[in-house]
Amino acid sequence: MKPLLEAKDIHKSFITPKSHNGTFQLLKGVNLVLEKGQTIAIMGLSGEGKSTLLHILGTLEKPSHGSLRIQGYDALVAKNCDRLRQKSIGFVFQSFYLLDEESVLDNILIPAKIINTSIKSSKKRALNLLEQVNMLNTQDRPAKYLSGGEKQRVAIARAMMNKPSILFADEPTGNLDNQTSKTISKLLFESCHQNNSSLILVTHDEHLAQQCDIIYRLKDGKLHLCEKQ
Ligand SMILES: Nc1ncnc2c1ncn2[C@@H]1O[C@H](COP(=O)(O)OP(=O)(O)OP(=O)(O)O)[C@@H](O)[C@H]1O
Ligand SMILES: [Mg+2]
Repeated sequence: MKPLLEAKDIHKSFITPKSHNGTFQLLKGVNLVLEKGQTIAIMGLSGEGKSTLLHILGTLEKPSHGSLRIQGYDALVAKNCDRLRQKSIGFVFQSFYLLDEESVLDNILIPAKIINTSIKSSKKRALNLLEQVNMLNTQDRPAKYLSGGEKQRVAIARAMMNKPSILFADEPTGNLDNQTSKTISKLLFESCHQNNSSLILVTHDEHLAQQCDIIYRLKDGKLHLCEKQ
């Protein structure tokens, strides 16, 4: 069976005036395979390129070189990439990107509106997801009034709205206290399990990484497999 996601020889460089030869090489040949139902953690120091790599794997950014196949499709071709992004990929961003003025419920409904799901069925699913993340009582509250942990829970629910095959989560427990961090990570794995999604997450949290099937460290532009404890 073909893998759900296969990235080969991914490079990313940026043109910057200060760097050597005017280009700065961030990713230097990343290979990664994600099978259905698998969970993968990517760790690494700040600035190594974890968010950039996650954005590339999630089709939000283009690599300078390399190939990316998701569900058997070439995910670097614009028409495939739009469809995959809308129907097969969920993203929890490092800085949430909720619409501050919109209510919690309206934030969660955004992905469903993009693919024109019927309002009745998407509202039912949104409320169900809000219940899963224990945020049902905040459905009418503007997102700007939520705490960091609450925003994170809403961001997870929103990413799950269109039942993605792959959920990407960038430091989902970053900036959270210990207890909330435990609740969020439990929720993330439960959500993936309930919605049959595979997961690729970026984290500095060793405990969270250890709960994944595979752990990589991004260093010097390449992924290195880590031993699980
Ligand atoms: N569009 C861009 N142009 C130039 N440099 C960029 C661009 N995007 C990212 N970078 C640089 O690439 C490096 C890696 O950024 P990235 O956000 O991927 O790191 P990270 O590993 O996620 O770090 P953190 O753990 O702090 O979130 C940084 O030095 C950043 O400034
Ligand atoms: Mg980052």
